[in-house]
Amino acid sequence: MDKLIIKGGKPLKGEIRISGAKNAALPILAATLLAQEPVTIANVPHLQDVTTMMRLLGSMGVHLSVDDHMQISVNSSGVENFYAPYDLVKTMRASIVVLGPLLARYGKAEVSLPGGCAIGSRPVDIHIKGMKALGAEVEVENGYIKASAKKRLKGTDFLFDVVTVTGTENLIMAACLAEGQTILRNAALEPEVEDLARFLNTLGAKISGAGSDTIIIDGVEQLGGGHYTVLPDRIEAGTYLVGAAMTRGHIKIKNIDPTIMSAVLSKLREAGAEISQGDNWIELTMNQDRPKAVNIFTNPYPAFPTDMQAQMMALNTVAEGVAVVTENVFENRFMHVQELQRMGAKIELKGKSATCWGVEKLTGAPVMATDLRASASLVLAGLVADGETVVDRIYHVDRGYERIEEKLTQLGATIRRDS
Ligand code: EPU
Repeated sequence: MDKLIIKGGKPLKGEIRISGAKNAALPILAATLLAQEPVTIANVPHLQDVTTMMRLLGSMGVHLSVDDHMQISVNSSGVENFYAPYDLVKTMRASIVVLGPLLARYGKAEVSLPGGCAIGSRPVDIHIKGMKALGAEVEVENGYIKASAKKRLKGTDFLFDVVTVTGTENLIMAACLAEGQTILRNAALEPEVEDLARFLNTLGAKISGAGSDTIIIDGVEQLGGGHYTVLPDRIEAGTYLVGAAMTRGHIKIKNIDPTIMSAVLSKLREAGAEISQGDNWIELTMNQDRPKAVNIFTNPYPAFPTDMQAQMMALNTVAEGVAVVTENVFENRFMHVQELQRMGAKIELKGKSATCWGVEKLTGAPVMATDLRASASLVLAGLVADGETVVDRIYHVDRGYERIEEKLTQLGATIRRDS
């Protein structure tokens, strides 16, 4: 199993390019199931989760090819299988986003229930409720969601009980080909939801309001093809910025839209970072100062993202002062705490809050990645720790960070992969 071996102590310095957003690329790839004509997608990150989505679509009969720049050409005219097996879904929960497009275009879908995962129970009840509201018949049997629609789905007025990102995406995709108008209320505002809607509109869908909590979809008979460029990854960007702040460094990240990162940038400023930004870049310097501890309160966009909670906690472990990190989105997203403690972090966990007392130094240790963002926090901790940190099970990191060791090396870190 691959490991990352990090020798801490060097400030991150230099420039890197941010990749396309994983959480936009995955639903966009699934949405190609709706397209009657060929589609090309650019700025797709080269990640394990993208490979898994491509395998899943390939198993259904979608034809995919990738060029040297990770531009993916997709032709979904030959789909003959409407099945997402447990083996794939259990490795990537985002597989659930094939449910909406399969049901809308083919009137049937059989998708494994994802089950629990390292960050919480993560039910999909709202996805199912939404499909039923659009007129589908849905049963859960033998661990599978079995959905069918005898005729075209029918537009509806649907209120999400809980704000859900992939739930909103699944319903947008299903409603695209439904008869009449669908109104989604209390929808997720995440930029990745908006990106999916922009992609679908490129193919001929009629979606308005994406990026707000009320999304209106006027169903069309069919979607065509087109070309689309995936938006940059705000979580990857945030992770490198936090790394620079923790190591008292100075970096510039390119190919990023700063306007979708307000919550993270504002917390980094509160931690003492000096940040400047342009249309598609962000520069951060700590002027070699130690960061100050900052309280974090995660919530759906535009609040502070749960996907940045672990990394910000890593920053707090070496910051000046005490801070409380409160996780409001997932009930069990603190798997990194125990590993950070092994590196000398002072953290006390109580319910959904973790209190961190910043220490002068972390010490290198063997640690184990448990989920994607937890692993990222361990890599960041390794960058400031005294001595060597070995992060095991980094297939979790590879699910969401493109060439992490290459990008960190480019920023001056001492890091290598050991297979
Ligand atoms: N929820 C329900 N019922 C549902 C759906 C969600 O109760 O049917 C609850 C969840 O249990 C959770 C909350 O609603 O407590 C929000 O979950 P959401 O559905 O928004 O999460 P998701 O769509 O499964 C996406 C991202 C996650 C990110 C969350 C929150 C993708 C592919 N995944 O997951 O990304 O943490 O939104 O922003 O977009 C990651 O990239 O590391 C990652 C986990």
